[in-house]
Amino acid sequence: MEIRENLADKLARETKEQQAYVAQLAKEVEHLKEHLGRIPTCHVTTFGCQMNARDSEKLLGILLAAGYEETESEDADFVIYNTCSVRENADQRVYGRLGVLKGYKNKNREMKIAICGCMTQEDIVIEKLQKSYSFVDLIFGTHNLYKFPQLMTDLLSGGGPIMDIWKDTDITVEDLPVARKYSYKSGINIMYGCDNFCTYCIVPYVRGRERSRDKDAILEEMRKLSSDGVKEIMLLGQNVNSYGKNLPDKTTFAQLLAEAEKVEGIERIRFMTPHPKDFSDDVIEVMKGSSKICRHIHLPLQSGSSRILKRMNRNYTKEQYLDLALKIRRELPDVAITTDIIVGFPGESMEDVQETIDVIRKVEYDNAFTFQYSKRTGTPASRFEDQVPQDMVQEGFDLVLKEVQEMARKRTAMLQGKVEYAMVEEVNDHDPSLMTGRLSNNTIVHFKGDASLIGQIVPVSLDVCQGFYYLGTRQ
Ligand code: 5AD
Ligand code: SF4
Repeated sequence: MEIRENLADKLARETKEQQAYVAQLAKEVEHLKEHLGRIPTCHVTTFGCQMNARDSEKLLGILLAAGYEETESEDADFVIYNTCSVRENADQRVYGRLGVLKGYKNKNREMKIAICGCMTQEDIVIEKLQKSYSFVDLIFGTHNLYKFPQLMTDLLSGGGPIMDIWKDTDITVEDLPVARKYSYKSGINIMYGCDNFCTYCIVPYVRGRERSRDKDAILEEMRKLSSDGVKEIMLLGQNVNSYGKNLPDKTTFAQLLAEAEKVEGIERIRFMTPHPKDFSDDVIEVMKGSSKICRHIHLPLQSGSSRILKRMNRNYTKEQYLDLALKIRRELPDVAITTDIIVGFPGESMEDVQETIDVIRKVEYDNAFTFQYSKRTGTPASRFEDQVPQDMVQEGFDLVLKEVQEMARKRTAMLQGKVEYAMVEEVNDHDPSLMTGRLSNNTIVHFKGDASLIGQIVPVSLDVCQGFYYLGTRQ
């Protein structure tokens, strides 16, 4: 108990301190503005998952509150890369783009470049940045993201470069400015970190141990968002089903969902990502009785082979996964199930790939993300000796992709002719006379309309299935 109270004190102190730094940063930005003779511009580039997208809203919120103006271009006075390290190609993209930023910096002497997120928690990345990218002015990690106001103030007042990486943290500061990308929907972090240590995955090393936020703080944030006009929220965590395990009152994820349902003004609730090993019946029960929780469960499979699942340290077998997925199909027949699949994990044979395909056929996924295994330094699987040759990975990948695409087409087509409610999200990229909407089960529909509909939930008939999405008509 005493430890909790100390934590609460620390949280309050850190929050106050960073709020004060936002004000101090604003003074520094004012100086910069006088010096430049114009409002300084900023750009936040996000790589990776929904958690990073939410973190970027926090970074931008602070920059805007301090007086920066957002610009679409990376040719800005301040550019920050919020990075992802889950697969290697994401790293490579960051290095490539940093090279481009260097060109901008050569032309703009006041330009500052920062990098944060999962990549900066890796020692080899830090070494590389220091050796080959010394023009980067500010480097910080995932655990001290909340210190951004202070780090920025130090950078603008004292110059750089600054590097501040922590190995872990016990607090999560939330009450700082946020610039939401969408007016009508928002993510809410319910927990940080991951304790699962799947053997291929770098997340536990770069995001630290699981920490759940207090239930009342989450509900309060929901109410605040609702009064700001937000209608849809996504509860975010690396393993949402284990929410609450380290809280003193041991609140469960199902209890949190049930409470979230009661928040007025919130019409849609999503969550990302559950882990099959912890997906309990009480969550299915809450979903059954809920009119707000969206009809979509993302249930990462990773592999359909029990042998590979064991080596992945996933803590479930093919049969256990199938039992769960088929139970969801039975109990919640209108729920779309999507998944993540990795092909080419060390030691995977074509028989193992066939096991994965067997699960795809049995579950009939509504959609799936298929990844080729990427070797991440520091993870146990990177030290496994039986890495799969690339041509075999490609062969398995093509087979799995073909299978999931066929399934997704089949499942999407099942809604043909129905009228469903769609959240109107944006003007269609290719045809400005069309609006893009999202059904509760995550299916996308395009239909005639105008931008005034954005953020409304409207009935749309699903007229023509175009493979993975629909063309429809507003009813
Ligand atoms: N290689 C390939 N895919 C990976 N993922 C996580 N780590 C790796 C890796 N080393 C995938 C998993 C996870 C998704 C977010 O990324 O499928 O569910
Ligand atoms: Fe990575 Fe596994 Fe944690 Fe997901 S559950 S973040 S795959 S270690």
